[in-house]
Amino acid sequence: MKLGPQEITFKRSKNKSVLLIANDASIVSQIDHAIAEIPKHDLETQLGTLSGLNGRAVEFAKANDLIVFETNGERQSDLDAMSTLRDELDQEVKIIAVTKDDITLAEARRITRAGADEVLTYPFDLEDLRDQVTRLTSPNPLVVVQQPAAGSTAPAAVIAVCKASGGIGATTVAVNLANQLQGKTGMIKKSAQRRVVLVDLDLQFGAVASFVDVDPSDCLYRLAEDGTTPDATYLQQSIVTSKCGVDVLAAPLRFAPLNSLTAQQIEAMIELLQVEYDYVVVDLPQALVEWLSPVLEKADRLMMVTSCTVPAIRQARRLIDFYTTDNIGLPIDIVVNHEKKPVIKGGAYKEAENVLERPLRYWLPTDLRTARAAVDRGEPLQEVSGRSALTRAMGHMTKALSEDIEAKRRSKTQTVSQGKVN
Ligand SMILES: Nc1ncnc2c1ncn2[C@@H]1O[C@H](COP(=O)(O)OP(=O)(O)O)[C@@H](O)[C@H]1O
Ligand SMILES: [Mg+2]
Repeated sequence: MKLGPQEITFKRSKNKSVLLIANDASIVSQIDHAIAEIPKHDLETQLGTLSGLNGRAVEFAKANDLIVFETNGERQSDLDAMSTLRDELDQEVKIIAVTKDDITLAEARRITRAGADEVLTYPFDLEDLRDQVTRLTSPNPLVVVQQPAAGSTAPAAVIAVCKASGGIGATTVAVNLANQLQGKTGMIKKSAQRRVVLVDLDLQFGAVASFVDVDPSDCLYRLAEDGTTPDATYLQQSIVTSKCGVDVLAAPLRFAPLNSLTAQQIEAMIELLQVEYDYVVVDLPQALVEWLSPVLEKADRLMMVTSCTVPAIRQARRLIDFYTTDNIGLPIDIVVNHEKKPVIKGGAYKEAENVLERPLRYWLPTDLRTARAAVDRGEPLQEVSGRSALTRAMGHMTKALSEDIEAKRRSKTQTVSQGKVN
C-alpha cells in the first residue's frame, strides 16, 4: 500500500534527546561531558535562559525527552517560564533545573513545586548527574527502593568515612559531621533536630571515644570474640550519649581480633541503628576487611578524606576501586583536608580529579589551634569555636551533604511511586 502524505509519521530515533538551556560555559561543558558518556543520549544546547526564550522554549522543548535548564540569581521569571512549559509539555518530558547558587532545601522545593523533576547544584558530581539523566529518560524506572511501611519513618541514612592515609583527618570529619548533622537549634539549651549515632569501626586505632570524651566500649570486642548477632538491647547498653548530644558506639580499648567480626554481625548492627536514628555515621578502618561490605552496601554516601599529594591520591583511587567493586552505585565524595578551597583549580588538582574520576568536592582548611583545643577538651570543633574557618567549612559540608542525601532519597521514593502508577 502506498502511504499518503498525511499518513507518513516520522519515527523518532531511538536515542534520547536532551535539550540544555544555559549560559554558563562551565555548566555547559560539564553537562556536555556527562551526557557524552551516556549511551544513546544526544545533547542539543541552546544558549540563553528559559525565560529569555519566551514562547520559543515550548517549541524547542517538545521534540525532546529531557530539558535541562540553568537558573541563577533572578529566579522567579525562570520558574514562571518553567510552569508554563510544564503545562504545555507531555508529562513524559522531564525537566532538570541546575543552579550555581548555594540554594536551601526550601528553595529547591520551590523549584520542584514549579515543575522541575530534579534540582542539581553546580559543580556536579558527574556520576550523580549521569544517574539522574538516565533515570529521568528511562520510560520504566528500575530503581527500586524499599519503602518504609505506612506510619513508620525511613531508615537512617548511613554515611561512611574513610581515609587515603592514616592521620589525614577521617575521625575529625566523622565526629564533626555527626555533631553538625544534629542540626541543633536554640540559643541556650540546644536541642537536636535529628538523632545521630556515630559508630567507631576503626577497631584497632579507634579514636572517636577520646574525640568526644566517652569511654571505650567492649561491645565490638565481645561480638568479635563470641560471634553472636547483636540485638537492640545489647546495642543500647553499649551506646553512650556524648556531651554534644551524639550517641556513640565506641571502639574497644583492647585490641580486637579484626577478622573475627562477620558481615552478618555488622549488617544486623547497622540495621538496628537505622531504625533508631536519622543518621548513622561510621568511622571505617583502613584495613580492607570483609565485614565492611554491609556498611558499603547500606551507605548513602562514602566520604573519602585525603590530601592532594600524589601517593594519597593514588591510594584513594585504589580504595575507591576496592569499595566500588561490589557497589558500583556507591556515591563517593572526596574531602580534601588541610587545604583551603582554591579560587582556581590548578593543574595538580585537575590531575587529581582525573585520577579519582570525581571532583574534589569538599575542602577543609588547616586550623591547628581549634583542632588541638577540640581534641584536648574532647569536644567537637563547633563547641570550641563556631567561627573558625575549619568549623565553618565542616558546616558547609554537612549542609550540602545532608541536602544531597535527602534529595537523592526523595527522588528514589518518587521513582518508586511513579513506577507503581505506570
Ligand atoms: N583541618 C585540620 N586542621 C588541623 N588539624 C587537623 C585537621 N584535621 C585533622 N587534624 C588533626 O590531625 C590529627 C589526626 O586526625 P584524625 O582525624 O585522628 O585522623 P585519622 O582518623 O584520619 O587518622 C588530629 O590531632 C586532628 O585534630
Ligand atoms: Mg581515625
